[in-house]
Amino acid sequence: MPNSDMPKFYVTTPAYYPNDVPHIGHAYTTIATDVLARWQRLKLGAGNVLFVTGLDEHGSKIEKAAAEKGVPPQQFVDDMAVVYKEVWKALGISYDIFRRTSDAYHLKFVTELFERISKAGDIYKGEYEGWYCMPCESFWTDFQLKDGRCPSCGRTVEKLTEPAYFFRLSKYQDRLLELYEENPDFISPEFRKQEVVNRVKEGLKDICITRAKVRWGIPVPGDPELTIYVWIDALPFYISALEPPSTTFERFWPPDVQTMAKEIFWFHVVIWPAMLMSAGYALPKKEFAHGWLTIGGQKMSKSLGNVIDPMYLSRKYTADALRFGLMRETSFGGDGDFSEDALKTRINNELVANYSNLFYRVTSFIEKNFDGKVPEGRLGGTEEALIAKTNDTVKKVDRHMEELRLTDALAAIMELSAEANRYFQEKEPWKKLKTGSEEDRADAATTLYTAVNVLRTISILLHPFMPERGGIAVMSLGAEPTLEGIGDLLIKPGHAVKAVMLFRKVE
Ligand code: MSP
Repeated sequence: MPNSDMPKFYVTTPAYYPNDVPHIGHAYTTIATDVLARWQRLKLGAGNVLFVTGLDEHGSKIEKAAAEKGVPPQQFVDDMAVVYKEVWKALGISYDIFRRTSDAYHLKFVTELFERISKAGDIYKGEYEGWYCMPCESFWTDFQLKDGRCPSCGRTVEKLTEPAYFFRLSKYQDRLLELYEENPDFISPEFRKQEVVNRVKEGLKDICITRAKVRWGIPVPGDPELTIYVWIDALPFYISALEPPSTTFERFWPPDVQTMAKEIFWFHVVIWPAMLMSAGYALPKKEFAHGWLTIGGQKMSKSLGNVIDPMYLSRKYTADALRFGLMRETSFGGDGDFSEDALKTRINNELVANYSNLFYRVTSFIEKNFDGKVPEGRLGGTEEALIAKTNDTVKKVDRHMEELRLTDALAAIMELSAEANRYFQEKEPWKKLKTGSEEDRADAATTLYTAVNVLRTISILLHPFMPERGGIAVMSLGAEPTLEGIGDLLIKPGHAVKAVMLFRKVE
Protein backbone atom coordinates (compact mmCIF):
# COMPACT_ATOMS: atom_id res chain seq x y z
CA MET A 1 0.00 0.00 0.00
CA PRO A 2 1.45 3.43 -0.78
CA ASN A 3 2.31 5.42 2.32
CA SER A 4 -0.40 7.99 1.75
CA ASP A 5 -3.17 5.38 1.90
CA MET A 6 -2.08 3.90 5.20
CA PRO A 7 -3.78 5.22 8.29
CA LYS A 8 -1.50 7.29 10.50
CA PHE A 9 -1.72 9.72 13.36
CA TYR A 10 1.08 12.13 14.26
CA VAL A 11 0.50 14.11 17.46
CA THR A 12 2.77 16.54 19.31
CA THR A 13 3.07 18.56 22.51
CA PRO A 14 5.00 21.83 22.58
CA ALA A 15 8.74 21.69 23.27
CA TYR A 16 8.73 22.93 26.84
CA TYR A 17 11.31 25.35 28.23
CA PRO A 18 13.36 23.39 30.72
CA ASN A 19 14.28 26.45 32.76
CA ASP A 20 12.57 24.66 35.61
CA VAL A 21 10.99 21.28 36.38
CA PRO A 22 7.58 20.63 34.78
CA HIS A 23 4.52 21.75 36.71
CA ILE A 24 0.95 20.56 36.50
CA GLY A 25 0.25 22.86 33.50
CA HIS A 26 2.92 21.13 31.41
CA ALA A 27 1.66 17.79 32.69
CA TYR A 28 -1.87 18.72 31.64
CA THR A 29 -0.99 19.21 27.95
CA THR A 30 1.28 16.17 27.94
CA ILE A 31 -1.33 13.90 29.55
CA ALA A 32 -4.04 15.07 27.15
CA THR A 33 -1.73 14.41 24.20
CA ASP A 34 -0.87 11.01 25.61
CA VAL A 35 -4.58 10.17 25.88
CA LEU A 36 -5.02 11.10 22.20
CA ALA A 37 -2.01 9.02 21.16
CA ARG A 38 -3.18 6.02 23.17
CA TRP A 39 -6.70 6.29 21.79
CA GLN A 40 -5.39 6.33 18.22
CA ARG A 41 -3.13 3.37 18.98
CA LEU A 42 -6.22 1.42 20.06
CA LYS A 43 -7.91 2.47 16.83
CA LEU A 44 -5.16 2.30 14.24
CA GLY A 45 -2.63 -0.03 15.82
CA ALA A 46 0.47 1.10 17.71
CA GLY A 47 2.73 1.21 14.64
CA ASN A 48 0.54 3.79 12.94
CA VAL A 49 0.78 6.40 15.66
CA LEU A 50 3.63 8.78 16.39
CA PHE A 51 3.73 10.89 19.54
CA VAL A 52 6.49 13.50 19.82
CA THR A 53 7.33 15.68 22.78
CA GLY A 54 10.52 17.46 23.76
CA LEU A 55 12.36 20.45 25.10
CA ASP A 56 13.09 23.93 23.79
CA GLU A 57 16.54 24.35 25.27
CA HIS A 58 18.04 27.50 23.79
CA GLY A 59 17.67 31.18 24.56
CA SER A 60 18.34 33.68 27.30
CA LYS A 61 15.81 32.20 29.72
CA ILE A 62 17.77 28.96 29.87
CA GLU A 63 21.10 30.81 29.82
CA LYS A 64 19.95 32.74 32.87
CA ALA A 65 18.62 29.70 34.75
CA ALA A 66 21.91 27.88 34.12
CA ALA A 67 23.94 30.87 35.29
CA GLU A 68 21.88 31.09 38.47
CA LYS A 69 22.74 27.48 39.14
CA GLY A 70 26.36 28.05 38.22
CA VAL A 71 26.52 25.41 35.49
CA PRO A 72 27.07 25.65 31.72
CA PRO A 73 23.78 25.76 29.77
CA GLN A 74 24.38 22.39 28.11
CA GLN A 75 24.85 20.67 31.43
CA PHE A 76 21.84 22.47 32.84
CA VAL A 77 19.54 21.25 30.04
CA ASP A 78 21.05 17.77 30.14
CA ASP A 79 20.07 17.52 33.80
CA MET A 80 16.63 18.97 33.15
CA ALA A 81 15.99 16.53 30.31
CA VAL A 82 16.53 13.70 32.78
CA VAL A 83 13.99 15.23 35.16
CA TYR A 84 11.43 15.75 32.39
CA LYS A 85 11.77 12.16 31.25
CA GLU A 86 11.38 10.91 34.82
CA VAL A 87 8.22 12.92 35.35
CA TRP A 88 6.71 11.76 32.04
CA LYS A 89 7.53 8.18 32.94
CA ALA A 90 5.85 8.50 36.33
CA LEU A 91 2.76 9.94 34.64
CA GLY A 92 2.54 7.12 32.10
CA ILE A 93 3.42 9.27 29.09
CA SER A 94 3.99 7.03 26.10
CA TYR A 95 5.88 9.36 23.76
CA ASP A 96 7.66 7.74 20.83
CA ILE A 97 10.29 10.43 20.35
CA PHE A 98 11.69 12.94 22.83
CA ARG A 99 13.40 15.68 20.82
CA ARG A 100 15.70 18.19 22.44
CA THR A 101 16.57 21.32 20.49
CA SER A 102 20.21 20.91 21.51
CA ASP A 103 20.33 17.53 19.71
CA ALA A 104 22.92 17.53 16.92
CA TYR A 105 20.43 16.78 14.17
CA HIS A 106 18.15 19.59 15.28
CA LEU A 107 21.01 22.12 15.00
CA LYS A 108 21.81 20.93 11.50
CA PHE A 109 18.16 20.89 10.49
CA VAL A 110 17.40 24.41 11.71
CA THR A 111 20.51 25.77 9.98
CA GLU A 112 19.41 24.20 6.70
CA LEU A 113 15.85 25.36 7.13
CA PHE A 114 17.05 28.93 7.68
CA GLU A 115 19.03 28.71 4.44
CA ARG A 116 16.07 27.24 2.62
CA ILE A 117 13.70 29.99 3.71
CA SER A 118 16.40 32.50 2.86
CA LYS A 119 16.76 31.05 -0.65
CA ALA A 120 13.00 31.32 -1.08
CA GLY A 121 13.55 35.08 -0.66
CA ASP A 122 11.76 35.26 2.66
CA ILE A 123 14.62 36.32 4.93
CA TYR A 124 16.36 39.70 4.80
CA LYS A 125 18.75 41.61 7.01
CA GLY A 126 17.83 44.86 8.71
CA GLU A 127 17.85 46.53 12.05
CA TYR A 128 15.52 45.85 14.88
CA GLU A 129 14.43 48.32 17.49
CA GLY A 130 12.03 47.56 20.24
CA TRP A 131 11.28 47.30 23.92
CA TYR A 132 12.84 44.12 25.21
CA CYS A 133 11.68 42.15 28.22
CA MET A 134 14.50 39.94 29.37
CA PRO A 135 12.56 37.35 31.40
CA CYS A 136 10.01 36.88 28.61
CA GLU A 137 12.62 37.02 25.82
CA SER A 138 10.21 39.23 23.94
CA PHE A 139 10.37 42.46 22.05
CA TRP A 140 7.29 44.66 22.38
CA THR A 141 6.10 47.67 20.44
CA ASP A 142 5.17 51.00 22.10
CA PHE A 143 1.58 50.12 21.49
CA GLN A 144 1.83 46.75 23.20
CA LEU A 145 3.46 47.99 26.43
CA LYS A 146 1.20 48.24 29.48
CA ASP A 147 1.98 51.35 31.51
CA GLY A 148 5.43 51.27 29.98
CA ARG A 149 6.04 47.74 31.20
CA CYS A 150 6.04 44.24 29.71
CA PRO A 151 2.42 43.33 28.91
CA SER A 152 3.12 39.70 29.72
CA CYS A 153 4.88 39.79 33.09
CA GLY A 154 4.61 43.44 34.14
CA ARG A 155 8.36 43.90 34.56
CA THR A 156 10.49 46.75 33.23
CA VAL A 157 11.62 46.70 29.61
CA GLU A 158 14.66 48.16 27.88
CA LYS A 159 14.96 49.81 24.47
CA LEU A 160 17.22 47.80 22.19
CA THR A 161 18.47 48.28 18.65
CA GLU A 162 20.38 45.52 16.98
CA PRO A 163 21.27 44.12 13.56
CA ALA A 164 18.77 41.42 12.78
CA TYR A 165 17.24 39.15 10.20
CA PHE A 166 13.56 39.31 9.38
CA PHE A 167 11.12 36.77 8.04
CA ARG A 168 8.67 38.06 5.42
CA LEU A 169 5.56 37.09 7.33
CA SER A 170 3.63 39.90 5.59
CA LYS A 171 3.89 37.99 2.31
CA TYR A 172 1.81 35.13 3.76
CA GLN A 173 -1.22 37.04 4.93
CA ASP A 174 -3.49 35.99 2.04
CA ARG A 175 -2.27 32.42 1.97
CA LEU A 176 -2.88 32.08 5.69
CA LEU A 177 -6.41 33.41 5.36
CA GLU A 178 -6.97 30.94 2.53
CA LEU A 179 -5.63 28.14 4.72
CA TYR A 180 -8.12 28.96 7.51
CA GLU A 181 -10.93 29.23 5.00
CA GLU A 182 -10.20 26.00 3.16
CA ASN A 183 -9.30 23.97 6.26
CA PRO A 184 -11.90 24.85 8.86
CA ASP A 185 -10.36 22.41 11.33
CA PHE A 186 -6.88 23.90 11.20
CA ILE A 187 -7.62 26.33 14.04
CA SER A 188 -9.24 24.44 16.91
CA PRO A 189 -11.34 24.70 18.94
CA GLU A 190 -13.61 26.71 16.66
CA PHE A 191 -14.14 29.51 19.21
CA ARG A 192 -10.49 30.52 18.94
CA LYS A 193 -10.69 31.08 15.19
CA GLN A 194 -12.27 34.49 14.79
CA GLU A 195 -9.70 36.30 16.88
CA VAL A 196 -6.85 34.87 14.82
CA VAL A 197 -8.57 35.62 11.52
CA ASN A 198 -9.26 39.21 12.62
CA ARG A 199 -5.67 39.78 13.67
CA VAL A 200 -4.31 38.35 10.43
CA LYS A 201 -6.73 40.49 8.43
CA GLU A 202 -5.51 43.59 10.24
CA GLY A 203 -2.19 42.96 8.56
CA LEU A 204 0.95 40.99 9.31
CA LYS A 205 4.31 42.62 9.89
CA ASP A 206 7.57 40.88 9.08
CA ILE A 207 9.08 39.39 12.19
CA CYS A 208 12.54 39.55 13.63
CA ILE A 209 13.96 36.04 13.80
CA THR A 210 17.42 36.56 15.29
CA ARG A 211 18.98 37.89 18.44
CA ALA A 212 22.29 39.64 18.91
CA LYS A 213 22.50 39.33 22.67
CA VAL A 214 21.86 35.65 23.10
CA ARG A 215 24.87 33.37 22.86
CA TRP A 216 23.11 30.12 23.80
CA GLY A 217 21.42 29.42 20.50
CA ILE A 218 21.92 28.29 16.92
CA PRO A 219 24.20 30.72 14.98
CA VAL A 220 22.78 32.33 11.86
CA PRO A 221 24.45 30.61 8.89
CA GLY A 222 27.11 32.97 7.51
CA ASP A 223 26.58 35.53 10.31
CA PRO A 224 27.49 33.74 13.52
CA GLU A 225 27.42 36.90 15.64
CA LEU A 226 23.66 36.49 15.64
CA THR A 227 21.65 33.54 16.88
CA ILE A 228 18.33 32.28 15.62
CA TYR A 229 15.43 33.42 17.80
CA VAL A 230 13.95 30.77 20.11
CA TRP A 231 10.66 30.32 18.26
CA ILE A 232 12.29 29.88 14.87
CA ASP A 233 14.63 27.41 16.50
CA ALA A 234 11.88 25.62 18.46
CA LEU A 235 9.02 25.21 15.99
CA PRO A 236 11.04 23.05 13.57
CA PHE A 237 11.51 20.48 16.35
CA TYR A 238 8.26 18.98 15.10
CA ILE A 239 10.15 18.08 11.91
CA SER A 240 13.63 17.45 13.26
CA ALA A 241 12.18 14.86 15.63
CA LEU A 242 11.54 12.69 12.56
CA GLU A 243 15.23 12.30 11.94
CA PRO A 244 16.67 10.41 8.98
CA PRO A 245 17.85 7.81 8.14
CA SER A 246 14.55 6.53 9.56
CA THR A 247 11.63 6.99 7.19
CA THR A 248 9.47 8.40 9.95
CA PHE A 249 9.19 11.74 8.15
CA GLU A 250 7.93 10.18 4.91
CA ARG A 251 5.53 8.03 6.89
CA PHE A 252 4.13 10.55 9.39
CA TRP A 253 4.51 14.12 8.18
CA PRO A 254 2.43 16.33 8.53
CA PRO A 255 1.14 16.37 12.13
CA ASP A 256 -2.51 15.41 12.52
CA VAL A 257 -2.91 17.24 15.83
CA GLN A 258 -0.62 19.68 17.61
CA THR A 259 -1.63 20.54 21.16
CA MET A 260 -0.68 23.52 23.34
CA ALA A 261 -2.20 26.19 25.57
CA LYS A 262 -3.60 29.40 24.17
CA GLU A 263 -0.62 31.72 24.87
CA ILE A 264 1.49 30.10 22.16
CA PHE A 265 -1.32 29.57 19.66
CA TRP A 266 -0.39 32.56 17.48
CA PHE A 267 3.07 31.11 16.83
CA HIS A 268 1.49 27.83 15.77
CA VAL A 269 -1.34 29.09 13.60
CA VAL A 270 0.40 32.04 11.95
CA ILE A 271 4.20 31.94 12.07
CA TRP A 272 4.58 28.16 11.89
CA PRO A 273 2.39 27.55 8.80
CA ALA A 274 3.99 30.57 7.08
CA MET A 275 7.45 29.10 7.71
CA LEU A 276 6.31 25.75 6.36
CA MET A 277 4.76 27.36 3.28
CA SER A 278 8.00 29.20 2.61
CA ALA A 279 10.11 26.06 3.00
CA GLY A 280 7.67 23.93 0.98
CA TYR A 281 6.37 21.53 3.62
CA ALA A 282 2.89 20.04 3.85
CA LEU A 283 0.93 21.78 6.60
CA PRO A 284 -0.34 20.31 9.88
CA LYS A 285 -3.99 19.30 9.88
CA LYS A 286 -5.00 20.72 13.22
CA GLU A 287 -3.61 23.15 15.78
CA PHE A 288 -5.46 22.82 19.04
CA ALA A 289 -5.14 25.23 21.96
CA HIS A 290 -6.63 24.46 25.32
CA GLY A 291 -6.96 27.07 28.05
CA TRP A 292 -4.96 27.60 31.19
CA LEU A 293 -5.03 25.72 34.42
CA THR A 294 -5.35 28.46 36.96
CA ILE A 295 -5.00 28.56 40.71
CA GLY A 296 -7.62 30.72 42.33
CA GLY A 297 -8.19 32.30 38.91
CA GLN A 298 -4.51 33.11 38.28
CA LYS A 299 -2.33 31.42 35.69
CA MET A 300 0.07 28.98 37.23
CA SER A 301 3.60 30.22 36.81
CA LYS A 302 6.90 30.02 38.53
CA SER A 303 7.15 33.78 38.91
CA LEU A 304 3.81 33.90 40.74
CA GLY A 305 5.00 31.10 43.01
CA ASN A 306 1.77 29.12 42.64
CA VAL A 307 2.97 26.10 40.70
CA ILE A 308 1.83 22.61 41.61
CA ASP A 309 4.13 19.63 41.30
CA PRO A 310 2.57 16.77 39.32
CA MET A 311 4.86 14.27 41.05
CA TYR A 312 3.45 15.20 44.43
CA LEU A 313 -0.09 14.59 43.19
CA SER A 314 0.79 11.43 41.35
CA ARG A 315 2.47 9.95 44.42
CA LYS A 316 -0.46 10.88 46.58
CA TYR A 317 -3.31 9.77 44.30
CA THR A 318 -1.62 7.52 41.66
CA ALA A 319 -0.79 8.72 38.16
CA ASP A 320 -3.97 7.20 36.74
CA ALA A 321 -6.26 8.95 39.19
CA LEU A 322 -4.45 12.23 38.55
CA ARG A 323 -4.79 11.77 34.77
CA PHE A 324 -8.47 11.00 35.18
CA GLY A 325 -9.07 13.97 37.47
CA LEU A 326 -7.26 16.43 35.21
CA MET A 327 -9.04 15.31 32.06
CA ARG A 328 -12.43 15.09 33.77
CA GLU A 329 -12.48 18.28 35.79
CA THR A 330 -11.72 20.96 33.21
CA SER A 331 -13.48 20.91 29.88
CA PHE A 332 -10.62 20.27 27.43
CA GLY A 333 -10.22 23.43 25.37
CA GLY A 334 -11.30 26.01 27.95
CA ASP A 335 -9.66 27.44 31.07
CA GLY A 336 -10.09 25.68 34.37
CA ASP A 337 -9.26 26.35 37.95
CA PHE A 338 -7.27 23.61 39.58
CA SER A 339 -7.92 22.58 43.15
CA GLU A 340 -6.82 19.51 44.99
CA ASP A 341 -10.22 19.29 46.69
CA ALA A 342 -12.01 19.14 43.36
CA LEU A 343 -9.55 16.48 42.20
CA LYS A 344 -10.28 14.40 45.31
CA THR A 345 -14.03 14.73 44.87
CA ARG A 346 -13.79 13.56 41.24
CA ILE A 347 -11.64 10.62 42.20
CA ASN A 348 -13.93 9.57 45.04
CA ASN A 349 -17.28 10.18 43.38
CA GLU A 350 -16.57 8.88 39.92
CA LEU A 351 -13.48 6.77 39.75
CA VAL A 352 -13.97 5.01 43.08
CA ALA A 353 -17.71 5.08 43.83
CA ASN A 354 -18.86 4.64 40.26
CA TYR A 355 -16.38 2.63 38.17
CA SER A 356 -13.97 0.94 40.56
CA ASN A 357 -16.69 -0.22 42.96
CA LEU A 358 -18.72 -1.74 40.18
CA PHE A 359 -15.64 -3.44 38.84
CA TYR A 360 -14.88 -4.98 42.21
CA ARG A 361 -18.47 -5.95 42.95
CA VAL A 362 -18.94 -7.73 39.65
CA THR A 363 -15.59 -9.49 39.48
CA SER A 364 -15.59 -10.55 43.13
CA PHE A 365 -19.18 -11.78 42.78
CA ILE A 366 -18.14 -14.02 39.90
CA GLU A 367 -15.11 -15.18 41.84
CA LYS A 368 -17.12 -16.06 44.93
CA ASN A 369 -20.27 -17.45 43.42
CA PHE A 370 -19.31 -18.80 40.02
CA ASP A 371 -15.79 -20.12 40.66
CA GLY A 372 -14.29 -17.16 38.84
CA LYS A 373 -15.91 -18.23 35.55
CA VAL A 374 -18.33 -15.97 33.72
CA PRO A 375 -21.76 -17.62 33.86
CA GLU A 376 -24.18 -18.04 31.00
CA GLY A 377 -26.71 -15.29 30.31
CA ARG A 378 -30.11 -15.09 28.63
CA LEU A 379 -30.60 -11.52 27.63
CA GLY A 380 -33.94 -9.91 28.33
CA GLY A 381 -35.23 -6.41 27.55
CA THR A 382 -33.23 -4.69 30.30
CA GLU A 383 -30.03 -6.32 29.13
CA GLU A 384 -30.71 -5.45 25.51
CA ALA A 385 -31.26 -1.84 26.54
CA LEU A 386 -27.98 -1.72 28.45
CA ILE A 387 -26.09 -3.27 25.53
CA ALA A 388 -27.68 -0.74 23.19
CA LYS A 389 -26.56 2.07 25.50
CA THR A 390 -23.09 0.56 25.54
CA ASN A 391 -22.85 0.61 21.76
CA ASP A 392 -24.26 4.07 21.68
CA THR A 393 -21.63 5.22 24.17
CA VAL A 394 -18.85 3.69 22.06
CA LYS A 395 -20.01 5.75 19.08
CA LYS A 396 -20.29 8.89 21.18
CA VAL A 397 -16.87 8.42 22.72
CA ASP A 398 -15.32 7.88 19.30
CA ARG A 399 -16.86 11.10 18.01
CA HIS A 400 -15.74 13.03 21.07
CA MET A 401 -12.20 11.68 20.85
CA GLU A 402 -11.93 12.43 17.13
CA GLU A 403 -13.04 16.00 17.84
CA LEU A 404 -10.74 16.25 20.88
CA ARG A 405 -13.55 16.60 23.39
CA LEU A 406 -11.71 14.49 25.95
CA THR A 407 -13.80 15.65 28.90
CA ASP A 408 -17.05 14.84 27.11
CA ALA A 409 -15.69 11.41 26.23
CA LEU A 410 -14.96 10.72 29.90
CA ALA A 411 -18.36 12.03 30.93
CA ALA A 412 -20.04 9.65 28.48
CA ILE A 413 -18.04 6.69 29.77
CA MET A 414 -18.91 7.59 33.37
CA GLU A 415 -22.57 7.85 32.45
CA LEU A 416 -22.49 4.33 31.04
CA SER A 417 -20.75 3.14 34.18
CA ALA A 418 -23.48 4.76 36.32
CA GLU A 419 -26.10 3.03 34.20
CA ALA A 420 -24.36 -0.32 34.64
CA ASN A 421 -24.25 0.34 38.39
CA ARG A 422 -27.99 1.00 38.45
CA TYR A 423 -28.61 -2.15 36.47
CA PHE A 424 -26.55 -4.26 38.88
CA GLN A 425 -28.16 -2.67 41.92
CA GLU A 426 -31.70 -3.12 40.66
CA LYS A 427 -31.17 -6.73 39.62
CA GLU A 428 -29.91 -7.66 43.11
CA PRO A 429 -28.15 -10.86 42.05
CA TRP A 430 -27.01 -11.44 45.67
CA LYS A 431 -30.65 -11.83 46.73
CA LYS A 432 -31.47 -14.04 43.76
CA LEU A 433 -28.76 -16.49 44.66
CA LYS A 434 -30.19 -16.94 48.12
CA THR A 435 -33.69 -18.06 47.10
CA GLY A 436 -32.52 -21.49 45.89
CA SER A 437 -34.72 -21.25 42.78
CA GLU A 438 -33.14 -22.27 39.45
CA GLU A 439 -34.92 -19.43 37.71
CA ASP A 440 -33.44 -16.88 40.13
CA ARG A 441 -29.97 -18.35 39.75
CA ALA A 442 -30.25 -18.05 35.97
CA ASP A 443 -31.34 -14.44 36.41
CA ALA A 444 -28.33 -13.68 38.61
CA ALA A 445 -26.09 -15.37 36.03
CA THR A 446 -27.54 -13.16 33.29
CA THR A 447 -26.86 -10.05 35.37
CA LEU A 448 -23.22 -11.00 35.90
CA TYR A 449 -22.70 -12.03 32.29
CA THR A 450 -24.10 -8.72 31.07
CA ALA A 451 -22.35 -6.56 33.67
CA VAL A 452 -18.92 -8.08 33.08
CA ASN A 453 -19.25 -7.54 29.35
CA VAL A 454 -20.24 -3.90 29.79
CA LEU A 455 -17.32 -3.49 32.19
CA ARG A 456 -15.02 -4.77 29.50
CA THR A 457 -16.20 -2.05 27.14
CA ILE A 458 -15.93 0.62 29.84
CA SER A 459 -12.43 -0.49 30.86
CA ILE A 460 -11.12 -0.44 27.29
CA LEU A 461 -12.61 3.01 26.70
CA LEU A 462 -10.95 4.23 29.89
CA HIS A 463 -7.61 2.63 29.08
CA PRO A 464 -6.09 5.64 27.25
CA PHE A 465 -6.96 7.84 30.23
CA MET A 466 -5.56 5.49 32.85
CA PRO A 467 -3.06 3.18 31.21
CA GLU A 468 -1.77 1.46 34.33
CA ARG A 469 -4.99 0.57 36.19
CA GLY A 470 -6.89 0.33 32.92
CA GLY A 471 -4.38 -2.26 31.76
CA ILE A 472 -4.87 -4.24 34.95
CA ALA A 473 -8.65 -3.99 34.59
CA VAL A 474 -8.65 -5.27 31.02
CA MET A 475 -6.21 -8.03 31.89
CA SER A 476 -8.18 -9.20 34.91
CA LEU A 477 -11.15 -9.65 32.59
CA GLY A 478 -8.94 -11.76 30.33
CA ALA A 479 -9.58 -9.24 27.54
CA GLU A 480 -7.40 -7.30 25.11
CA PRO A 481 -7.15 -3.52 24.91
CA THR A 482 -8.45 -3.07 21.39
CA LEU A 483 -11.37 -1.30 19.82
CA GLU A 484 -12.20 -4.27 17.65
CA GLY A 485 -15.58 -5.63 18.74
CA ILE A 486 -15.52 -3.08 21.54
CA GLY A 487 -19.30 -3.05 22.15
CA ASP A 488 -19.82 -6.78 21.56
CA LEU A 489 -20.30 -9.39 24.27
CA LEU A 490 -16.88 -10.92 23.73
CA ILE A 491 -16.53 -12.33 27.24
CA LYS A 492 -18.13 -15.70 26.77
CA PRO A 493 -19.53 -18.06 29.44
CA GLY A 494 -16.76 -20.08 31.06
CA HIS A 495 -14.23 -17.25 30.61
CA ALA A 496 -12.08 -16.70 33.73
CA VAL A 497 -12.04 -13.32 35.46
CA LYS A 498 -10.18 -12.10 38.53
CA ALA A 499 -11.40 -9.71 41.18
CA VAL A 500 -9.42 -6.50 41.60
CA MET A 501 -9.91 -3.32 43.55
CA LEU A 502 -8.67 -0.74 41.05
CA PHE A 503 -8.89 2.48 43.08
CA ARG A 504 -9.41 3.26 46.73
CA LYS A 505 -11.16 6.19 48.32
CA VAL A 506 -8.82 9.07 49.12
CA GLU A 507 -9.16 11.12 52.29
N1 MSP B 1 9.07 26.59 24.42
C1 MSP B 1 7.78 27.11 24.15
C2 MSP B 1 7.03 26.21 23.18
C3 MSP B 1 7.70 25.92 21.88
S1 MSP B 1 6.80 24.81 20.91
C4 MSP B 1 7.60 24.75 19.47
C5 MSP B 1 6.98 27.22 25.44
N2 MSP B 1 7.38 26.47 26.46
S2 MSP B 1 6.67 26.44 27.90
O1 MSP B 1 7.50 25.62 28.74
O2 MSP B 1 6.40 27.76 28.36
O3 MSP B 1 5.37 25.65 27.71
C6 MSP B 1 4.16 26.27 27.40
C7 MSP B 1 3.13 25.20 27.33
O4 MSP B 1 3.06 24.46 28.57
C8 MSP B 1 1.71 25.73 27.18
O5 MSP B 1 1.41 26.09 25.85
C9 MSP B 1 0.92 24.55 27.68
O6 MSP B 1 0.95 23.52 26.75
C10 MSP B 1 1.72 24.16 28.89
N3 MSP B 1 1.35 24.94 30.06
C11 MSP B 1 2.19 25.68 30.82
N4 MSP B 1 1.46 26.26 31.83
C12 MSP B 1 0.17 25.92 31.71
C13 MSP B 1 -0.99 26.20 32.45
N5 MSP B 1 -0.97 26.94 33.54
N6 MSP B 1 -2.15 25.68 32.01
C14 MSP B 1 -2.21 24.89 30.89
N7 MSP B 1 -1.13 24.62 30.19
C15 MSP B 1 0.07 25.09 30.58
O7 MSP B 1 6.03 27.98 25.46
